[in-house]
Amino acid sequence: MVVMTPARTRIDVTLGERSYPIIIAPGLLAEAGTLLGETLGTGTVLIISDERVAGLYAQPLRSSLERCGMRVHLETFPPGEEAKTLDQASRLWQACAGHRLDRCGVIVALGGGVTGDLAGFVAACWMRGLRLVQIPTTLLAMVDSSVGGKTGVNSPAGKNLIGAFKQPQCVLIDPELLRSMDDREYRAGLAEVLKYGVIRDAPFFAWQEEHAEELLARDPAAVAQAVAQCCRIKAAYVAADETEQGVRAELNYGHTFGHAIELETKYARYLHGEAVGLGMRMAAALATGLGVLGDGDLAARQDRLLARYHLPLTYTVADPAAAAQRLAGHCRLDKKVAHGRTRFILPRRMGEVVTHEAPDAALVVEAFASALRGA
Ligand code: GLY
Repeated sequence: MVVMTPARTRIDVTLGERSYPIIIAPGLLAEAGTLLGETLGTGTVLIISDERVAGLYAQPLRSSLERCGMRVHLETFPPGEEAKTLDQASRLWQACAGHRLDRCGVIVALGGGVTGDLAGFVAACWMRGLRLVQIPTTLLAMVDSSVGGKTGVNSPAGKNLIGAFKQPQCVLIDPELLRSMDDREYRAGLAEVLKYGVIRDAPFFAWQEEHAEELLARDPAAVAQAVAQCCRIKAAYVAADETEQGVRAELNYGHTFGHAIELETKYARYLHGEAVGLGMRMAAALATGLGVLGDGDLAARQDRLLARYHLPLTYTVADPAAAAQRLAGHCRLDKKVAHGRTRFILPRRMGEVVTHEAPDAALVVEAFASALRGA
């Protein structure tokens, strides 16, 4: 039983016997031992983190866990998406064996999206499933990837194509950890925060319009409030549709376009959130083209908030017409393709989206072209 102090927010992901809490509070990292000891006992813990994050936060986490009687090991890997491979997972499984991590053990993912996905996948497979705790250290991981159980690695065939659903026992979010984030990465995370307003929560979008400067300045109270609201929305989607058979796909708003941009630019030019920001603009253009968008203000409000978050509004290319054709082709390879049809999540009005399958190919090309500019 986790005792909540007033400064703490607890959000439950309701999934029957796999339900778990998301706990949000400044300074939580130093209390991880007490919080986790109550549910996990005093077994062996393996912290998995990249070298940069480990240098910042592994020691305070380790001390907190050891003070509560846990035996703690740390395994690190080089930072970056390149580490999300089966080879790296194999190395970590060897480490699990070396540390004698048995079924009473726990893996703690300490880091951003790459760490959560990789460590989660290692936990999902080792001994057919070990307990997992997510401690996200980036905005993107706090508002999205640490919640909901998607884990995996990349392969030559594509990103995240090898993976498993592995719900954690608990997600511990300490917004103070965001202080060490690079500005550009932090702002890219705000694209996902904006996304929640468009897909599900018009008042939250309006709240962001009022508090954009505080969020940009990483004001602790504003950040904690935004993270909590994103987690509430995400928890509701996951509880309704854990394995993305239906409504959970709405979380992919902007992502079908964004993934095509990431593929076209070889994952080197845009951060994920930046590509998703461009993708949300393109989704609004497609919704307009299809006559789905019934809110004349939405696209302009979305653009203004993206601009206030300093996210790119246009993607500059030498030949926009040719690029739009190529990008539309990439969509057909997207993971969200079902029965050969690409699914697009499109805004209907602020706080409401619809799924559209296989729209007219020319409209998709036009939607891409709407945010492309000639060099
Ligand atoms: N990142 C989208 C999801 O977890 O479903």
